[in-house]
Amino acid sequence: MIRPYAPADLDTLRQLFQETVSTVNRRDYTQAQVEAWASGAQDRSRWIDRLAAHHFVAVAELDSQIVGFAELEADGHIDCFYCHKDFQNQGIGTKLLNRLEAEARSISLPQLFTEASITAKPFFERRGFQVVRSQQVERLGQTFTNFQMTKSLS
Ligand SMILES: CC(C)(COP(=O)(O)OP(=O)(O)OC[C@H]1O[C@@H](n2cnc3c(N)ncnc32)[C@H](O)[C@@H]1OP(=O)(O)O)[C@@H](O)C(=O)NCCC(=O)NCCS
Repeated sequence: MIRPYAPADLDTLRQLFQETVSTVNRRDYTQAQVEAWASGAQDRSRWIDRLAAHHFVAVAELDSQIVGFAELEADGHIDCFYCHKDFQNQGIGTKLLNRLEAEARSISLPQLFTEASITAKPFFERRGFQVVRSQQVERLGQTFTNFQMTKSLS
């Protein structure tokens, strides 16, 4: 089931993010990188502000367990997009992306865009996104490669 975010989901999403980055993204990034990245879960008030500011946050639930979430901004930017470490490759990401895309079309957005991790790049490519360019971003002293990607909705 895909449903909108509710404030009671906050701590579960922070934990899911932290665990997915530490395990799933660890395949493609160093231990030091994922530690810096996952530490973003600690700033609870920043998460409250970010989740409240987004146009739409989709939460995936399976048997009452939260197994993924994805954030859409009003300009078509996809911000956080994470599935539970124990529920990868089960079609949950596809359902979340389809929901964001439906939401974007419902407000007539011309495109979706994101900065995809090395881990997520093939997922987005197979769902119609194209790489604009690769880039290096700095977070807490670590440098990360990711990919600016877009998908036209016209
Ligand atoms: C990228 C990510 C969100 C994708 O989520 P996901 O739930 O694994 O995605 P899906 O299961 O829908 O699709 C992944 C693959 O599993 C396959 N799959 C889907 N359902 C399946 C099933 N029931 N059985 C087996 N495989 C399945 C899909 O075919 C797909 O392969 P494809 O891309 O070659 O088509 C997830 O891997 C993730 O959380 N990554 C780490 C976090 C991250 O990097 N996020 C992006 C931040 S920028």
